[in-house]
Amino acid sequence: MADTTTAAAAPHNTFDTVLVLDFGSQTSHLILRRLRSLNVYAEMLPCTTKLAELDWTPVGIVLSGGPSSVYDEGAPGIDPAIFDLGIPILGICYGCQLLAWLINDKNVARGEAREYGETDLTIHKVGSANADRLFEGFDDTLHVFMSHFDKLMHLPEGFVTIASTKNTAYAGIAHESKPIFGIQLHPEISHTSRGTDILSNFAIKICGARANWEMGNFTEKEIIRIRKLVGDNAQVIGAVSGGVDSTVAARLMKEAIGDRFHAILVDTGLMRLNECQQVKETLQEHLGINLTIVDGSELFFSRLAGVLEPEKKRKIIGETFIDLFEKEAIRIEEEAKETTRAGKVEWFLQGTLYADLIESLSFKGPSATIKSHHNVGGLPARMMNGQAQLKLIEPLRELFKDEVRAFGRQLGIHEDLVMRHPFPGPGIAIRILGEVNRENVELVRKADHIFISMIREAGIYDQMSQAYAALDTNRAVGVMGDSRVYGMIIILRAVTSVDFMSAEPFEFPFQLLKNICRRIVNEVDGITRVVYDCTSKPPGTIELE
Ligand code: XMP
Repeated sequence: MADTTTAAAAPHNTFDTVLVLDFGSQTSHLILRRLRSLNVYAEMLPCTTKLAELDWTPVGIVLSGGPSSVYDEGAPGIDPAIFDLGIPILGICYGCQLLAWLINDKNVARGEAREYGETDLTIHKVGSANADRLFEGFDDTLHVFMSHFDKLMHLPEGFVTIASTKNTAYAGIAHESKPIFGIQLHPEISHTSRGTDILSNFAIKICGARANWEMGNFTEKEIIRIRKLVGDNAQVIGAVSGGVDSTVAARLMKEAIGDRFHAILVDTGLMRLNECQQVKETLQEHLGINLTIVDGSELFFSRLAGVLEPEKKRKIIGETFIDLFEKEAIRIEEEAKETTRAGKVEWFLQGTLYADLIESLSFKGPSATIKSHHNVGGLPARMMNGQAQLKLIEPLRELFKDEVRAFGRQLGIHEDLVMRHPFPGPGIAIRILGEVNRENVELVRKADHIFISMIREAGIYDQMSQAYAALDTNRAVGVMGDSRVYGMIIILRAVTSVDFMSAEPFEFPFQLLKNICRRIVNEVDGITRVVYDCTSKPPGTIELE
């Protein structure tokens, strides 16, 4: 995949950047979040990255935790030359063991017992101007989170102990004179009190990073970067869905290159009630974006007729989406040629976020199956390698979701849209257990509208990460008036989640849930039962199919 964002003005060339080398810990990305919350820009790359091949120099390097043991054959490592670069280094957990192992061979072994959970750390002030910097401004004890089996058996040469716990003599180590530090505790986890202060001491005091990463700076720089990248003539196309990511990306393109950006909304017929109209109003009328709506609902429904198998549904939707999108892209290109209004369509915009990338960047990321959600059935691949041969532009790829939201606000996008729950590419189709047809979609739309409106009226929309109504097309009996009726079943799902990789069911006040159920059965013809899905993820997933 062409990497267009490592161009000259990429953030790591503009902001002092701390590099996090990932050894596969579940919490590596939280190190970035903490650093960015300090306004220090940070990027994460897999531990296999060769520093010599980077076209930028980090101000500091964090070696993350990871599931391996440094003494295992094939355990991930780094080139020990890193310690001679003079760039400050902080090893966390596995990262700490690795630096000790590399500096002082065979220095790590399995402890007698695992140290997992919260514990008290004793901080040792050793009177060294270098070594004492990591815990500068701290009291003698600190409540911290630990998660390790292995531990250091003795101090590496040239190091001193700066922290210990009951079970771990070398819970914090520092080189006497070089800016190299190792900690067994996890400062990125919220259970570690003052974890962010430890990272602040490292990034700002030890690395000397300027804390100048903020969205305001980023917006301006990103607009300039896009203008340079795209040039004065070329055109850009991108799919929009009405979600926050694609809207923010589209608004940014509009700001950077005006009408040379073409947003395409493919109406699959599988979007929520009035959604297409709302997207039109927001993007075209409110944000002034050059938008084309392609009505594809007939084609989608005809191809989905009789299909019950979930993966087949997704495949059909993905392919149909790409067929329609590509056709429209070619039409825009032809039109541009005829009017000589502007140059060739050369770029394809994708609203990829950092969280999406982390899955592919991290050393041992989650499975590829999860990742495949993020682009509608391979749209970028077809746009880049197919007839269109476009280059990929991903202006949000360095950002986390909350940063995209902040960015959206700055770009004048309405709060409701900025805070909107995510909605999957295949839309309502993966919320129907059974055949996807217009009638069934209509039932889901109505129930979903009632559910979400009542959640909003109760003022709890922002307390959950995602909520929706789905349909089970099996028949359940009900009593209406004096007679038995058979109708379908609405399944309500609402979850809280930090990263959507795991989720917990939202705990509704029971009376509100009952009121929602009553309204749905009364107002949506054809529904006799409403159930609330209380399954966590895992073992469930957020969507039903
Ligand atoms: P699951 O169901 O895997 O969902 O727990 C996690 C998050 O991903 C969204 N999701 C999708 N998004 N295309 C998408 O664009 C998909 O095929 C897809 N499947 C799930 C889901 O809504 C949730 O936010």
